[in-house]
Order: sequence, then structure tokens, then C-alpha cells
Amino acid sequence: MSKQMSHLDDIPSTPGKFKMEKSPFVHNRLRWHSSLAKLTFWSCIFLGLILIFFFRSPSSNPLPQDPSRRSLRTYNWGGPAWEKRVRSSARVRSHNGISVLVTGAAGFVGTHVSAALKRRGDGVLGLDNFNDYYDPSLKRARQALLERSGVFIVEGDINDSALLRKLFEVVAFTHVMHLAAQAGVRYAMENPGSYVHSNIAGLVSLLEVCKSANPQPAIVWASSSSVYGLNTKVPFSEKDRTDQPASLYAATKKAGEEIAHTYNHIYGLSLTGLRFFTVYGPWGRPDMAYFFFTRDILKGKSIPIFEAANHGTVARDFTYIDDIVKGCLAALDTAEKSTGSGGKRKGPAQLRVYNLGNTSPVPVSDLVSILERLLKVNAKRDIMKLPRNGDVQFTHANISLAQRELGYKPSTDLQTGLKKFVRWYLSYYNGGKKAAG
Ligand SMILES: NC(=O)c1ccc[n+]([C@@H]2O[C@H](COP(=O)([O-])OP(=O)(O)OC[C@H]3O[C@@H](n4cnc5c(N)ncnc54)[C@H](O)[C@@H]3O)[C@@H](O)[C@H]2O)c1
Ligand SMILES: *[C@@H]1O[C@H](CO)[C@@H](O)[C@H](O)[C@H]1NC(C)=O
Ligand SMILES: *[C@@H]1O[C@H](CO)[C@@H](O)[C@H](O)[C@H]1NC(C)=O
Repeated sequence: MSKQMSHLDDIPSTPGKFKMEKSPFVHNRLRWHSSLAKLTFWSCIFLGLILIFFFRSPSSNPLPQDPSRRSLRTYNWGGPAWEKRVRSSARVRSHNGISVLVTGAAGFVGTHVSAALKRRGDGVLGLDNFNDYYDPSLKRARQALLERSGVFIVEGDINDSALLRKLFEVVAFTHVMHLAAQAGVRYAMENPGSYVHSNIAGLVSLLEVCKSANPQPAIVWASSSSVYGLNTKVPFSEKDRTDQPASLYAATKKAGEEIAHTYNHIYGLSLTGLRFFTVYGPWGRPDMAYFFFTRDILKGKSIPIFEAANHGTVARDFTYIDDIVKGCLAALDTAEKSTGSGGKRKGPAQLRVYNLGNTSPVPVSDLVSILERLLKVNAKRDIMKLPRNGDVQFTHANISLAQRELGYKPSTDLQTGLKKFVRWYLSYYNGGKKAAG
């Protein structure tokens, strides 16, 4: 669960490595010089001065040393066959269909949204870097699923501007469904850089390419209920304060909302942020409680159940994936066109934020009881105090705005949704004889 993102780990930031990579160049120059003429005292001084100049002057750096470039794994993309796959995946097949770039398409929500769009005849192209924040084989299995319905996932990073520009060159996307992110609240203390990379730098790179695209796409993207942070007024409504994030993850999502405001204001990009509330369901995320509770209950391992101060209940507004998908599609369908072109704003554009929740918070202990019934196994409960490392005590969405403007109406209760999750879990891990982490 808490594996490092290996491609972020080999950043050559140590000065030692910096010099080592430079030395062959320096040695070559020395050898070349001494073979031309005998080394005299003065030429030594002269050469020394040149070497000092080379070491001091940043502009004479012979090797690309931008460490962030190294943090991007190198992916294979490009070429006529690749472009053909991209085009074919993004081709609209229904009358009035849209053409959507889905980032994070091998992720939990991304897979479901991509499949739903494809089913209605929209053009869909996925983008995902398949990082190993959680078991990448699950991402590969989702990819195989999408492949069968004709969705191609380009393997690459959202912070790779050259790749993004290429994708917009090949396809004139009408919409971007931006779901790629570093998710998870607790992992932010282990690997803060991955949140900055994907949720801040990656978002900016994506918006930069979108604002320059012609035509500019409309963008719908995933924010999070975590932006409500330490807000205690319930249910959470879009107008409530969101300036007290309780985790770096929440802070990067809040930053994303502000960055969205900027790109809407300066460039006329149509932007819709969706604040998801604890999404669960088949093909879900192994780092989330309902998922690893299921795994650990089946293994007979004890599960940690958090309790707030004074035995306070920790509860979540669990939202079933199919309801979230409906909300995402409704947001895409009601998104107005961006108004800018060629990187210039022509007029005001749409800027929206919606809660997508279920409106009925369930205590985590009830979640466990439902799982026990479905799995027919008693859980070993390990009651613990809620640590102050990012998780909030309570989430509860007010969804009246999404209801009014998107026609959003969640219809799956936790009992029904978990039944579908458990059925998927058992067939995926037992049927396939795979080990769940
Ligand atoms: N699942 C939830 O409960 C929940 C709640 C609130 C918000 N969200 C947000 O919804 C979105 C989707 O979440 P999810 O649950 O499907 O998570 P997920 O981790 O399953 O999916 C995210 C996908 O993005 C990919 N990705 C990450 N960084 C990338 C990068 N730099 N370049 C390219 N691809 C990258 C990952 O490989 C992954 O497949 C995320 O933005 C998440 O923050 C999810
Ligand atoms: C993201 O890409 C930009 C521009 O390509 C680069 O300057 C930046 O360092 C990268 N950031 C991260 C965190 O990878
Ligand atoms: C939910 O939000 C709407 C505004 O979008 C507000 O009018 C309503 O009073 C809120 N409901 C509750 C129960 O707070």
C-alpha cells in the first residue's frame, strides 16, 4: 500500500552525482589539450581558468540537469501506428457525441467513466502513467477491460507537456475529463512530492496545453470532499469555507480549484470541479478502507476502526461509483464551450464546482457490520483513536446544487453498493486466484 513511486525516487539531486556526470567531459578536454602541445606552466594556468569557468558558469552546463525531467519515466509514444490507435479510440460514433480525453483512465473512477462514455458512442482516449501507488496489476486489468470496449490508454504522464500537445495535435478533443491525481490522505506524509507532481504541476501542464489548443476543450475535473477540511458545519455545501485543509492531499485539491479559477479568468477555459465524497464499488482502490477491510476480514486479520475524541463516531458519505459516473457525464453534457482561442480569452466562460456525494453518512463501524454480513465472516475490530494526520471525522454532502443543475440523484445505498463490490472482489481475487496485496 505504501510503496514508493519508484520513478520519482531516482531524482539525481545530490551534488556528488552532479559532478560525476560532468567529469568525462572535463577529462576529454584535458587529454585533447595535452596531446596538442607539451604542458607548459602557463597553459596549465590557462586551462585551469577555463575549467573554473566551466564549473562556475551555469549556462555552459553540457548535460541536461533539470532533475524533474528525470522524474518522468520515459514512455514510448508517437509514430503512425500509435497515432492511428489514438485517432480510432477518440473517434465519435454517435450523432452529437463528444470526444473526451480521460486522464487517470486506468484508475478506479477513470475506468468506469471511460467505459460509460464509450458505451454511449462518445470518442474516448485514456491517459495514465500506471504508477505503483497501489498494485499496478489492477490498473492493467482495468486497461484490458477498456481495451475490449475499444478504449486505448496512452501510457504517459500528465506533466509531460510534449505528449499532451501531441495528443491535441492528433485529436481535437471537445472535452477533457481530468481524473489523474495522486490520491490518498495518509500517503501524503510519506511522499509529498508525488502530490505536487501530479495534482499541482500536472494540472498546470494540462491546463496550459488546453488553453493553447484550438479549439479549447471544456474541462471537468475531480476535486475532493477533503477540501472542506476542518469545516464543522454539516452538511457541506459549496459555499462553505474550504481554507482549512487537514492534509497535503486536500491542500493540493484546494490549490487545484484556485488554479482552475485562474485559467478560467485569464484564458476563458470552461472548468467544472467535482468534489467526490468517498467513492466505492467494483474495480475500486485497494488503499481505501472498504477495500482493505474486505481483504483483511477474509484473511482473519484485525482491522483498525478509528474513533474520534470522546468515542465520537467517524462517518463517511459513501458514494457508489455508478452515481459518481452519472454525475461526471452530466457535468460533461452541461459544460459550456470554452470561449478563448489560441491562448487568448475572448469572453467570460463557465466556472463551476459541485459536491457529488450520497447525502447519508454511515459510521465506519456500520460499514464493517455490512461487510461481515456479506462476507459471512466476523471481523476482528481494533478500535483506535483517529490520528491527526489528515482524516477528518465526518463528511456529509449537501447535493442540492448538483441536483438542480446536473440532475444528479444518487440512487444506491451502501448495503446495495457493497453487495456489488463484494461480488466483484470475490470473483476477481478468488476466481482469478490472484492475491489481494
Ligand atoms: N475515490 C475517491 O473516493 C475519491 C474521492 C475524492 C476525490 N477523488 C479524486 O478522483 C480522481 C480519481 O480517483 P480514483 O479513486 O479513481 O483514483 P485512482 O488512483 O484509482 O486513479 C487515478 C489514476 O491516475 C493515474 N495518475 C496519477 N498520477 C498521474 C500522472 N502524473 N500522470 C498520469 N496518470 C497519473 C494513476 O495511475 C491512477 O490510475 C482523483 O483525482 C482523486 O483525487 C477520488
Ligand atoms: C512538470 O513539468 C514542468 C514543465 O514541463 C517542469 O518544469 C516541472 O519541473 C515538472 N514538475 C514536476 C514536479 O515534475
Ligand atoms: C444545501 O445547500 C443549498 C444551497 O445550494 C441551501 O439552500 C440549503 O439550505 C442547504 N441545505 C442544508 C440542509 O443545509
